[in-house]
Amino acid sequence: MNTIFKLGACAFALVAVACSKPQSGANAEIESNIDALLSQMTLDEKIGQLNQVSSYGSVEAMADEVRAGRIGSILNEIEPANVNRLQRIAMEESRLGIPLLIARDVIHGFKTIFPIPLGQAATFDPEIVREGARVAAAEASAAGVRWTFSPMLDVARDARWGRVAEGNGEDPYLTSVMGVAMVRGYQGDTLGNPASIAACAKHFVGYGAAESGKDYNSTNIPPAQLHNVYLPPFEAAAAAGAQTIMSSFNDNDGVPATGNRALLTDILRGEWGFDGFVVTDWNSAGEMLSHGFCADSAEVATKALNAGVDMDMMSFAFVKELPRLVKEGRVSEAQIDNAVRNILRVKYRLGLFDNPYVDESLRDSVFYAPSHLAAAKQAATESAVLLKNDNHVLPFGSNVKRIAVVGPMADAPHDQMGTWVFDGDKDKSITPLTALRERKGISINYAPGLAYSRDNNKAGIAQAVAAARQSDVVVAFVGEEAILSGEAHSLADISLKGAQRQLIADLSATGKPLVMVVMAGRPLTIADEVAKADAVLYMFHPGTMGGPAIADLLLGDANPSGKLPMTFPRMVGQVPIYYAHNNTGRPCYGSEALINDIPLEAGQTSLGNTSYHLDAGFDPLFPFGYGQSYTTFAYGEPHLSADHIAKDGKLTVDFDLTNTGDYEGAEVAQLYVRDLHGSLARPVKELKRFQRVNLKPGETQHVTFELPAEDLAFWNPEEKRHVEPGQFQLWVAGDSQSGQPIAFTIE
Ligand code: NOJ
Repeated sequence: MNTIFKLGACAFALVAVACSKPQSGANAEIESNIDALLSQMTLDEKIGQLNQVSSYGSVEAMADEVRAGRIGSILNEIEPANVNRLQRIAMEESRLGIPLLIARDVIHGFKTIFPIPLGQAATFDPEIVREGARVAAAEASAAGVRWTFSPMLDVARDARWGRVAEGNGEDPYLTSVMGVAMVRGYQGDTLGNPASIAACAKHFVGYGAAESGKDYNSTNIPPAQLHNVYLPPFEAAAAAGAQTIMSSFNDNDGVPATGNRALLTDILRGEWGFDGFVVTDWNSAGEMLSHGFCADSAEVATKALNAGVDMDMMSFAFVKELPRLVKEGRVSEAQIDNAVRNILRVKYRLGLFDNPYVDESLRDSVFYAPSHLAAAKQAATESAVLLKNDNHVLPFGSNVKRIAVVGPMADAPHDQMGTWVFDGDKDKSITPLTALRERKGISINYAPGLAYSRDNNKAGIAQAVAAARQSDVVVAFVGEEAILSGEAHSLADISLKGAQRQLIADLSATGKPLVMVVMAGRPLTIADEVAKADAVLYMFHPGTMGGPAIADLLLGDANPSGKLPMTFPRMVGQVPIYYAHNNTGRPCYGSEALINDIPLEAGQTSLGNTSYHLDAGFDPLFPFGYGQSYTTFAYGEPHLSADHIAKDGKLTVDFDLTNTGDYEGAEVAQLYVRDLHGSLARPVKELKRFQRVNLKPGETQHVTFELPAEDLAFWNPEEKRHVEPGQFQLWVAGDSQSGQPIAFTIE
């Protein structure tokens, strides 16, 4: 078998996956329709298009404003009959018959809930991610929603930040690939299909670098890092045809994103040619007052519009201030026309002018369709990361008859769905307890021990321990409730909450084989618990079908294949921690003295001066890209097509990958590169390619990665984006810490 993982070239080669745009319908006819409409619109009607409101709760409450053309988009209206009534008012009773754009936060599924995006990233499977977004689009559009505020493309390297759950982790390349997959899934082959919804790449930009992981906090991202780490996923999404971009809450180096013209206009429109529209985050325009960046709402409206915002979500500064600002000549009507044009273009592409209505009977057959549940189960299965499996305790063999199921996440139908679930029903979630109870040939001894993840009441732990003693194995479902991650839910301590640590310690003391299954919205600091458990399966929040996926994995009907999309710290004091860090002048090569090994009154320089924490060491608990399988894989020696390539050349890397174990399984082969010397210090490794490979026991697949030199380009302040000739190293491995370097040169 032979697989070639091919990526074509595009403007920003790192994100080459984005190159083929789905058909968006950009054409002269649309532009001339917009011209015709604009020529008839009053200033107030134009400003109305720039105004997005959250549903007032009833059609009646919004009817007059819709009729008067004072609302361009409504978020949070998901009752199909209401959507149709509102659209009818817009189409038939407003002067120009301009349809509304109905929006919703559909982040990882609408009804059928997929794993949180961080879990989906752990699949390293863009195809299942695309499918998840397609399912979400089918279900959301059946409720009348034609625009989602997803994908979240914020690169995040600090697990304290609650919103790591909503993104794809720490790596720009992985985030780019998954972001493009989501855009394609939402938007489909053509936006005009009523089951397609417009995507929104958010939050533009840098929001994931919030200081101390505290949500909404300031960021201080210098230009090269902005261009090399934070912008690429957005460029990829724009190149893939994402129709909208959301400006973020944070100020970077003092400039709130919603007022940042360099970002919203110069880069987004000027450099990338983005022709969709920019929406603010919820009142992020108004929050420029709190930032101290604007003195009053007139300045808010002026700065946001001048920066390149097209649609104002919920600050009302545009509707309130723009009429007067135009009269006073402080903003021009041409600027407003431009924003209206961007918004109408997307409405045309979505086919809303032809048919803004939703078939009200659709949802019964679409919501939770069997194929949707099957895809959600596959995504949950592939998102599982096996962090430890001593003595092959997993999967359970036929000798395991009695399983103690304990822990607060074993039967938590709401919490297993994770953050940002507005529409999924918890009674549709199948929990691990339910799924395991349905399996034949095993008996389940359920004693949760704790009622919920923050529960400090230890009274139930004795019962859980007793259940463990009476069983062949114990599976402890621990982690965090959905509410502990997501927007505004950051943590300063990311260890297991409540008495969960005690629960694990007491279970471990029974001597029974202990499997820990963690469901969480982020990497947690679980070093002690990992040491105590025999096996650890990290699930993130797996969604509606988490239970059946976990049952399959525990019982050997499925094999874990997920890989970590974020580095797992040993201690929270290590964050931000990420594999693609720069080398320091004094790198730590694994010879660090740890705090308990330091002799009394040791001389100041006797430990050697290298870069690490005395109490945590240098390494993380688990590196980016890490994840085990029930089987084993052997990487053959990679072969490079050349050891010297031209700046415009291409390297081909090929190798054999063999399943050397007893189970069928999938391995995610990863290609990392290091640029050894540059005009700027470069990261010690950067992920450039990956591929999931399914292999039967004993099977070998020949894998080929193609890597244009252009993909090794980076941005520096003088030369902008360019490929620097010099020496490079390359690794092919199953995680970011393994493999042997191979040298090559760019001339
Ligand atoms: C605020 C969040 O930051 C954003 O992600 C979301 O899409 C909007 N609110 C709309 O709900």
